[in-house]
Amino acid sequence: MGKGYRKWFVKSGVVPTEFEKKMMEYERRGYLVPPRKLIKTAEQIEGIRLSGLVNTGVLDLIEKEIKIGMSTEEIDKLVYDYTVSHGAIPAPLNYEGFPKSVCTSINEVVCHGIPNPKTILKEGDIINVDVSTILNGYYSDASRMFCLGKVSPEKQRLVDVTKECLKIGMEAAKPYGFVGDIGFAIEQHARKNGYSVVRDLTGHGVGLAFHEEPEVCHFGKPHTGMMLVPGMVFTIEPMINMGKCAVIFSQKDGWTVTTRDGLPSAQWEHTFVMTEEGLEILTY
Ligand code: MF3
Ligand code: CO
Repeated sequence: MGKGYRKWFVKSGVVPTEFEKKMMEYERRGYLVPPRKLIKTAEQIEGIRLSGLVNTGVLDLIEKEIKIGMSTEEIDKLVYDYTVSHGAIPAPLNYEGFPKSVCTSINEVVCHGIPNPKTILKEGDIINVDVSTILNGYYSDASRMFCLGKVSPEKQRLVDVTKECLKIGMEAAKPYGFVGDIGFAIEQHARKNGYSVVRDLTGHGVGLAFHEEPEVCHFGKPHTGMMLVPGMVFTIEPMINMGKCAVIFSQKDGWTVTTRDGLPSAQWEHTFVMTEEGLEILTY
């Protein structure tokens, strides 16, 4: 690899920091190290943390207000009003043409469901509410599942195991480990429980934009993919299907993703920062 293609170097005469020396050494050894721009400064991390605080406030509000008989449009209004009144912007609104402030995905909808007045929450539904916030230019992203009234034990188990998948993925992410470690751990847990992992949508870097490098697949091989380095900020957001992993992208609205077999899907998501000690959640 020519000198000009290296991601980590310092101008001649400049003394590299210990961190830069470490990155240069990993790169020299052939590891896929992140580019410098993915390593956030302490100031940027604090900005993302504040954005995450508003994002968590939105999800807590939805947790308090969500009920049977409510439309997904009403959820959208709650998200918009809370976000804007806290000086922030809902990141989905007008993002690549997305028409609403939040994604609401019920039962067999995997993700990117569009809120509307005609979709009414009913007893036994499971819904993912995916909230993303921009505060002072900093992005955060998290989602939770909500169970409406009496949910079948099968759906409840899907929701619970998917939450475990997020936790297991988080614990598999070690400083100077690899993105592939996360996906491997998640898929093992999903399969052990008889479920499949959606492969067409992934977690992602986040913070200065909605979607940054790296792609965080929820399947994979240990010790592969980009190295996880302190200062990187990214989501883990496993979409786990009760049946097969295949999904359909709606041709009609351009957004809604559903399971091909019509069986339910669940998802949980947090935004994390990698530290020398492991992952820290920025969307608690
Ligand atoms: N919140 C989704 C994610 O976790 C992205 C949604 S894009 C939107 O990456 F436009 F549908 F909001
Ligand atoms: Co996300």
